[in-house]
Amino acid sequence: MNIRLHDGPLAELETDALAWPLANGPALGQAADQQIESLRESGEVRGKPSELTLLHEPKGLQSRRLMLMGVGDSLDATQVFRMAGQAVRAAQERRFKRLAIALPDGDLVRAATEGCVYGSYEQPKYKSDDSSVPLEEILIVAPGADSAAFDAGRIVGESVNLTRRLVDTPANDLGPVEFAGMAESMGKAAGLEVEVLDEAALEALGAGSLLSVAKGSVRPPRLVRLAWNPGDAAGDSHLFLVGKGVTFDTGGLSLKPAKSMEKMKYDMAGAATMLGAITAIARLGIKQRVSCLLGLVENMPSGSATRPGDIVQAMNGKTIEVINTDAEGRLVLADALTHAVRLGATHLIDAATLTGAVSVALGAVNIGLLGNDASLSSHLTATGQTIGEHFWSLPMNDEYLEPMKGDLSDLRNAGTDRKAGTITAAKFLEQFVDNTPWAHLDIAGTANLDKGLPNAPKGASGIAVRTLVRAVETWPSEAAK
Ligand code: BES
Ligand code: ZN
Ligand code: ZN
Repeated sequence: MNIRLHDGPLAELETDALAWPLANGPALGQAADQQIESLRESGEVRGKPSELTLLHEPKGLQSRRLMLMGVGDSLDATQVFRMAGQAVRAAQERRFKRLAIALPDGDLVRAATEGCVYGSYEQPKYKSDDSSVPLEEILIVAPGADSAAFDAGRIVGESVNLTRRLVDTPANDLGPVEFAGMAESMGKAAGLEVEVLDEAALEALGAGSLLSVAKGSVRPPRLVRLAWNPGDAAGDSHLFLVGKGVTFDTGGLSLKPAKSMEKMKYDMAGAATMLGAITAIARLGIKQRVSCLLGLVENMPSGSATRPGDIVQAMNGKTIEVINTDAEGRLVLADALTHAVRLGATHLIDAATLTGAVSVALGAVNIGLLGNDASLSSHLTATGQTIGEHFWSLPMNDEYLEPMKGDLSDLRNAGTDRKAGTITAAKFLEQFVDNTPWAHLDIAGTANLDKGLPNAPKGASGIAVRTLVRAVETWPSEAAK
């Protein structure tokens, strides 16, 4: 896809469709402005978010069509991102070749570019007769736009799409080894240091918790470390992004019912999110030290699988009774978090499709946010708010740890009932962060779109990548202490 910034009078732009957010003031020339005004007066066009009206041969414009985009009352980064992606998808569906998206000024060019790239996402192709045709050209027309903001938008959009592509790839084509290979090639291409630990290396590190999940699968586990260490980093904070990468979650011997297992290829979305975020951070050249750890395993039942009741020892020495082999994500993250702490993390953020309970509590609207550091949590929440990714904090009282204490062991990986499942899971994780400021993102309800949106097909949403990148770009200086 050829996407470019363009400068010049809108009326003279020759294209198949000119997308125009309705919150823009008059600027298309008298004839077209009047045409829009009378449509608005008739009440046919109201300008609500995601409303799309296509006018053919608009008056006074060289463009063949005018695509009027509803964005609500204000043109902000959230609306522009969604509108741009919707315009791209609408143009593609109609087999247009060229699209231009106009903005009143350059301020929102990053959001528009991210939105265009997001809207152009192509899912992995498995259909024998694939009829989708990408657009040949997308122009973003924004007076005074900064080309650095445009470039940043493209990088971030591509990184979100990398995350989505990994999540949408079926597990027969993406096991731990294949994922690690992708992380290595994408990481190196972005300028990151990459280290891939295999089973033997994990055994040497004493990662008994992570390894217990991998035991049932013929596909061996991997722990990938990616590091972005700019020489001129501001401050001396070292953030670790840790991702749950269960490339398929059958539940293990505590087997999931068929309906619940259907979508479990997306149980590696946390790892894909963190990989997308760190490749963007590196490609943007952000002056912050950031590393990433991806815990990659396949959770299968077999004669060699961990049994309910088995007691395993995690890398930090704690013993865990595996009550339920389907509560495997926390077992993987436990060792990945310990490893991050040992490698000198000053701050930790993990992302994981950890609990079904988070979608009971928050649906597909909010990411469940838990942790031990109010300022890190509020930084993430406030950053997400600016771009329309929502985080909702859940409580972390110590009482929630009670069900996770073992009889024979230090911990158990599941309580006796399902109450507050998202919180008890986070309290379990907290036992492995050693008081390091830490935020946990439970994305089980938000990483996958069960229904398509105007700017995205159903499937991976890529949620949290854009927030994480911005959170690092605007990393508060006090966090560096
Ligand atoms: N991968 C699942 C969580 C999940 C459920 C993600 C539904 C997306 C949709 C996780 O490994 C899991 O199975 N968690 C259990 C934990 C329970 C056994 C304590 C759950 O949430 O039911
Ligand atoms: Zn599970
Ligand atoms: Zn899982």
